[in-house]
Amino acid sequence: MSNFTMVAKTFAGLETILAKELRQLGAGNIKPGVRVVSFEGDQGFMYKANLALRTALRVLKPIAEFKVQSEDEFYRKIYNIDWSQYFTESGSFAIDATVHSEYFRHSRYVIFRAKDAIVDKFRNDTGKRPNVDLRNPKVRINIRISNQLCTVSLDSSGDSLHKRGYRTQTGEAPINEVLAAGMLMHAGWDGLSDFLDPMCGSGTILIEAAMIALNIPPNINNQNFGFKNWKDWDPDLYEVIEKAQFNRIRDFKDQIVGYDISAEAVAKAEENIQNANLSDFIKVFKADFFTSEKYTPGYLHLVFNPPYDERMAISIPDFYQKIGDTLKQNYQGSEAWFITSDEEAMKNVGLRASRRIRLFNGPLEARLLQYKIYEGSKKKRKRIKRKK
Ligand SMILES: C[S@@+](CC[C@H](N)C(=O)[O-])C[C@H]1O[C@@H](n2cnc3c(N)ncnc32)[C@H](O)[C@@H]1O
Repeated sequence: MSNFTMVAKTFAGLETILAKELRQLGAGNIKPGVRVVSFEGDQGFMYKANLALRTALRVLKPIAEFKVQSEDEFYRKIYNIDWSQYFTESGSFAIDATVHSEYFRHSRYVIFRAKDAIVDKFRNDTGKRPNVDLRNPKVRINIRISNQLCTVSLDSSGDSLHKRGYRTQTGEAPINEVLAAGMLMHAGWDGLSDFLDPMCGSGTILIEAAMIALNIPPNINNQNFGFKNWKDWDPDLYEVIEKAQFNRIRDFKDQIVGYDISAEAVAKAEENIQNANLSDFIKVFKADFFTSEKYTPGYLHLVFNPPYDERMAISIPDFYQKIGDTLKQNYQGSEAWFITSDEEAMKNVGLRASRRIRLFNGPLEARLLQYKIYEGSKKKRKRIKRKK
């Protein structure tokens, strides 16, 4: 099997983590960019990347790259791609485009022209045309025009990879699964200690943490990968790759715990945890973090996203001050990471963040903050020790 270039898309701030994941999986020629990482691998690696990458949103396979300066030239060059290699006139397709170019203003128009070119090509060659299906297409085509350079790719993922399949219930402000995994990996969570999400909402961070701890490929339950509709779909190869991923699943002996002050949130988290088949590894309780204490005498890793929305009817400065106080007083011997997009609120924590990582929570620019809570007084700091 020969290698080809692929491009994995992610959120801003997760590129280095995605590059690391790709290195660990065995990709070649890894190049991080802005919200993307390009890499090389073969067909089996493409299957593996879709199954196992935690911080990728999509894996694209470029099939054509050309210079283009006008709409007619664009139509012609799209028309000239040998589309019959990838799907047939009885299939359906959808096109998605990003355009940053002085030659092309509207991505909608680019999509429209590309659709015409593909349909015309099939009709002229076979007398029949494939349908456009925006909801459930057999093949998703991605077009990117950056100035004069146009890249046409097939989307091997189909649905966005954040749709892991376990989340049937969401709370007030659920965090995206890919962002949750990225936060955990930035936070150095490796499944070698006890873990707490003290404001767990619908349980996304807990579930992603457990999947990392157990080495479960995040998309193992995804039945909708785009590559399954491609002409070169190889179910035997996929089975081998899937089996190898299953064989890497390991045991986890520590505890993964979630709290939420809302009984409704706890019920939702429980349902999602059950969907993910992780009830043996994660326990959730209705509890107020601010009156809680560290549940283990040993080292504890905390990762969470506190409420950030004014609609949540809380006083943000007070809330963040309470987070700081609770950590200082009741969580000595821990390492806490949380994400916030409220610059002012960070000042109320009253602890010095040892790391601040720029991320985006949807459209909101945010910081992932690390606080090391040492045991004892500041003068006689005991280093926090992790079991290995
Ligand atoms: C932004 S949401 C967390 C979303 C979660 N990561 C998810 O994916 O669904 C914040 C959560 O904090 C909870 N919360 C607010 N105050 C709390 C407190 N004092 N103790 C525990 N949970 C609290 C809210 O009920 C809400 O579910």
